[in-house]
Amino acid sequence: MIRDGGKPRNLREEALERARVAKTLPVPTSVMKRVFRIIADADSSLAQLHGVVKYDQAISAKIISIANSAYYCRGTSIASLEKAMITVGLKETKRIIVCMVFLQGIMTRWKLRRDDVTALWKHSLTVAHAAKALAEKLAMEDPEEAFTISILHDVGKVIFYGFGDRYRALVDDASLLRQDICDFERIEYGIDHQEVGHELSIVWGFPEEFSDAILAHHNPHDGETPIIDIVRDADAFVCGREGSLPERERAVLQNEKDWITVETERIRQLVGV
Ligand SMILES: [Fe+2]
Ligand SMILES: [Fe+2]
Repeated sequence: MIRDGGKPRNLREEALERARVAKTLPVPTSVMKRVFRIIADADSSLAQLHGVVKYDQAISAKIISIANSAYYCRGTSIASLEKAMITVGLKETKRIIVCMVFLQGIMTRWKLRRDDVTALWKHSLTVAHAAKALAEKLAMEDPEEAFTISILHDVGKVIFYGFGDRYRALVDDASLLRQDICDFERIEYGIDHQEVGHELSIVWGFPEEFSDAILAHHNPHDGETPIIDIVRDADAFVCGREGSLPERERAVLQNEKDWITVETERIRQLVGV
């Protein structure tokens, strides 16, 4: 229990309350909802995405700057968002938008400490590439959807990092002991980052499949929902819990380890942080 103005408050309720009031973001919620619906739809077009993203200055500016970066620029400078999106390509544009919403719309909004942002960002990006590799190699699910959900899978931790050093100590203990952080969170706060993240995903209007994966990504691989299993396996692999993976998934991830590292670093450099 903690005290707030002399009144004892339950930490579980405190975490949920923080998630419930998380309505306002620099990316307006209605735009974010539309962005995620378009991104979640494998058949969506570049024109549909452009129709929504053009209203967000920060994301538009980032896509234009990436199109003009050494990685993409072929000598002619690109000034329009539409041309920039064509240059970068629909799939990569979707990935960059998800990264931007997570970094600027969510993590910056919470004014997290720089090292907390870096740790959570690097983890999320690595899990996203591991999930993409799994989806591609096993041809089970849309790799882009696996990437997007994985970027957001630990969004509930944003609320916990707001509790400061007390939470950082839990993260360190879980990592040192290679134990599941959720067990530590439930003992300390009476709730874990899956449940808090699920609450956030409802407040922000994420598609249902995103919310389902966020709520259950620490459960064991059960073969029931492939997209959730992909996120689970990718997360367990990146956290060093690969002993819990089915053999086929473990083999794919071990084979793709170098690609995951290289691609994670490439996107990290393009997007920043
Ligand atoms: Fe997690
Ligand atoms: Fe994770």
